[in-house]
Amino acid sequence: MQPILEIRGVSFGYAAAPVLEDISLHLHTGQFAALVGPSGAGKTTLLKLVLGSLRPAHGDITVNGQHVDGSPANGVAYVPQVETVDWNFPVTVEQVVLMGRVRKSGIWPWPSREDKRLVREVLERLEIAQLAGRHIRNLSGGQQQRVFLARALISQPQLLVLDEPTSGVDMRTAENVLHLLADLNRTGITILMTTHDLNAAAAHVPWTICLNRTVIAEGPPEVVFTEATLNRTYQGDMVVVRQDGMLLIHQRPHSHTHRDLLPDAVPGHTVAPLPRQAGTGTPAAGVSLAGLIPPVVPAKEAAGDLAA
Ligand SMILES: Nc1ncnc2c1ncn2[C@@H]1O[C@H](COP(=O)(O)OP(=O)(O)OP(=O)(O)O)[C@@H](O)[C@H]1O
Ligand SMILES: [Mg+2]
Repeated sequence: MQPILEIRGVSFGYAAAPVLEDISLHLHTGQFAALVGPSGAGKTTLLKLVLGSLRPAHGDITVNGQHVDGSPANGVAYVPQVETVDWNFPVTVEQVVLMGRVRKSGIWPWPSREDKRLVREVLERLEIAQLAGRHIRNLSGGQQQRVFLARALISQPQLLVLDEPTSGVDMRTAENVLHLLADLNRTGITILMTTHDLNAAAAHVPWTICLNRTVIAEGPPEVVFTEATLNRTYQGDMVVVRQDGMLLIHQRPHSHTHRDLLPDAVPGHTVAPLPRQAGTGTPAAGVSLAGLIPPVVPAKEAAGDLAA
């Protein structure tokens, strides 16, 4: 079966230094994949190459067998990172979503009745129909994310490309966005997204690609998210905990944590310092996590302790 997206031997650099080197990846119809890697790894650059807004120096990219050549291939829709959008642009939610119909309906801004019906339908599907007349600037981060998702969905894409759809929103909203993407994926839309949230990717995305200039690994998160692979990808000290079928990923704190840098205690806000192993900066054996939680101490008592 022909992949919907095929990236073959792609290299790219903005200037002399390569940003991406010899990238080969493919996605089949119905896949849901997360591209992860540290800042500067080349994730957004790779998405721009897939969208045709950048051209590879070497290699080539096809969508549905067609070479991507300077503009988005048919059937591809893009959801940009909300932080990169100019929110002062004077448009309403409905107008932003209509922009997604431009290629299908031709001239904008004279939408047909059918265009308007589709906008309402997609806004209802994303549960933001009540926002149709609002200016995009006056929305929360999660609502803005949905507006751009609506703009992408109205073009009825086969391949949806999203740059950090869960950034800048709280954990619950991020979870909702991922559930929404999983629902869209179940309707047959292939999804490629970037994310910094490894835990969310591990919990919700069935295929993960670790990128840092080159592809370090790809596969299901339970296979790919090992300490060895993540350390190679992030060049950091990652901790992976497997518990009850869940993967929990964390960067190990450096030896100088905020606890080493605590200012003098202020009476009334006192947190008892943890006993330390001499010279290591880490809590002594036998100190439980409960010791990290500030005790609820009446202000006077704490002040008395300090004086003692
Ligand atoms: N327009 C540009 N001109 C020159 N260099 C660029 C440009 N855009 C990105 N870069 C550089 O290319 C490298 C990869 O950037 P890219 O935005 O693809 O990283 P990323 O993985 O998306 O990072 P982040 O997680 O911070 O979004 C970085 O070193 C960046 O500074
Ligand atoms: Mg990026």
